[in-house]
Amino acid sequence: MENVEDFYDQLSSKYSDLIKKCVPRYDELLHTMFLYLEPDFKPLRILDLGCGTGNLTQRILEYFPDAQIDALDLSEDILEESRKRFGNQSNMNYLQADFKNMHLSEKCYDLVMSSIAIHHVQDPFKFKLYKDVFYALKTDGLFIFADQTRGITDEIYFKNIECWKVEALKLGSTEENWNMWMAHQDAHDYHSPVGWHLENLKKAGFNEVDLLSKYLMWGVFWAKKN
Ligand SMILES: C[S@@+](CC[C@H](N)C(=O)[O-])C[C@H]1O[C@@H](n2cnc3c(N)ncnc32)[C@H](O)[C@@H]1O
Repeated sequence: MENVEDFYDQLSSKYSDLIKKCVPRYDELLHTMFLYLEPDFKPLRILDLGCGTGNLTQRILEYFPDAQIDALDLSEDILEESRKRFGNQSNMNYLQADFKNMHLSEKCYDLVMSSIAIHHVQDPFKFKLYKDVFYALKTDGLFIFADQTRGITDEIYFKNIECWKVEALKLGSTEENWNMWMAHQDAHDYHSPVGWHLENLKKAGFNEVDLLSKYLMWGVFWAKKN
């Protein structure tokens, strides 16, 4: 089985189409990430962690056209898809890096966002990432991310996956697509319960933490540095 980087390298040109057929309420999930921002919040510099082909980046650009955006991903091939999508806009910067060993500068971002990427690293690395993000945010900076979570019991977790399959097939995924995602999930995904995320965001230094919404296993998290 290939590693995460190779998986996304190989999937890069097909990713945008496949993900829309796979994640239930994907548009709503991305939309919710911006719903709770104050109208006068005008971030100057934003980081998109695990940007993929740029589905969240696209929205960031629409909400904050004047911001400087760092789009970061492990896979060089999927970053290339983002480059093709957004061209050489002067406010876009592409970074190939791994969450596990990034070196973010202190207090350089107003907003850090991420959609369905953080579950690719194990819990100790998630906690390290939360500390890195806290360090890299300015005072009053926000960390908002959407991700898959684990149910508090196996019954809830497996029910979520069962319901997800029904929805993915309705969205147009084939059995082959589904099996591909599940093989990837078994090999590379580390889902953590909502409570784990909230607790570890607090431990990383964030005072205000919340779950903004949840549908099946997809949650939207909010953390403020103040
Ligand atoms: C499911 S895709 C999500 C992409 C995009 N945010 C979206 O909403 O469509 C997950 C992305 O996270 C990236 N990723 C996985 N593990 C990573 C890591 N350790 N460091 C940086 N990026 C990583 C993958 O390469 C992939 O592009």
